[in-house]
Amino acid sequence: MAQFTLPANSKVTPGKSFPPPAAAKRAKTFKIYRWDPEAKATPRLDSYAIDLEACGPMVLDALIKIKNEVDTTLTFRRSCREGICGSCAMNIDGTNTLACLKPIDEIKGDARIYPLPHLPVIKDLVPDCTVPYAQLASVTPWLQTESSPPPDRERLQSTAERAKLDGLWECVLCFCCQTSCPSYWWNGERYLGPAILLQAYRWLADSRDERTGERLDALEDPFRLYRCHTIMNCTKTCPKSLNPAKAIAEIKKMMVARR
Ligand code: SF4
Ligand code: SF4
Ligand code: FES
Repeated sequence: MAQFTLPANSKVTPGKSFPPPAAAKRAKTFKIYRWDPEAKATPRLDSYAIDLEACGPMVLDALIKIKNEVDTTLTFRRSCREGICGSCAMNIDGTNTLACLKPIDEIKGDARIYPLPHLPVIKDLVPDCTVPYAQLASVTPWLQTESSPPPDRERLQSTAERAKLDGLWECVLCFCCQTSCPSYWWNGERYLGPAILLQAYRWLADSRDERTGERLDALEDPFRLYRCHTIMNCTKTCPKSLNPAKAIAEIKKMMVARR
């Protein structure tokens, strides 16, 4: 995928302004980051005023309404609208979250919407996730075994073993945590970041996986794991209420335990 990186220090200038419909009963303005790589222009903040009486309750509903009824050029990702696919992650009112899970009524005044920070922008609210996806692949996020499977059934877990995966399997890989982490902003090419480390721990914690030693070896590095300084932005921002910082701490404990 082609990468379109915003120039460093690029400014966001005021853009177009779309007024509310004449008969609007409850107007609200959404100020949305716009950048088109083909236009080669400075990013701008367009203002769209819509009638909330004719709109669903979530920020994603407003974005879809704007795209359908006001400005078809507005570009963003979405699929499930249920907080499951992770694709509508963006920065809303200063916080990374999922647009489909963010109620409009929680936003006081105008809503300001930007792409996830510190990733290259492809267009408007669409970030380029090439690097975090490559980092995800590097932790081999699938079950790996040495032994042969039982001939007549799947590999079983006890209830207690399965419970260790709770708080991990629910991750939707939205990268809200990843792009809120200052350590990742500064060392994004070398530090794996909270989303990827939570995924790494999901397989370290799986009683059926038989590559624990190799997985830990791959993380034993000054940058991949140990750039986490427990700042906790990741856990504060996760729209699924998960705790990547705790998962990272558990990996560090496993590292100490095997020495
Ligand atoms: S706790 Fe670690 S991973 Fe989470 S935001 Fe802080 S430095 Fe980043
Ligand atoms: S841990 Fe939470 S914020 Fe991070 S990628 Fe998973 S769901 Fe998104
Ligand atoms: S549209 Fe799938 S998580 Fe928001």
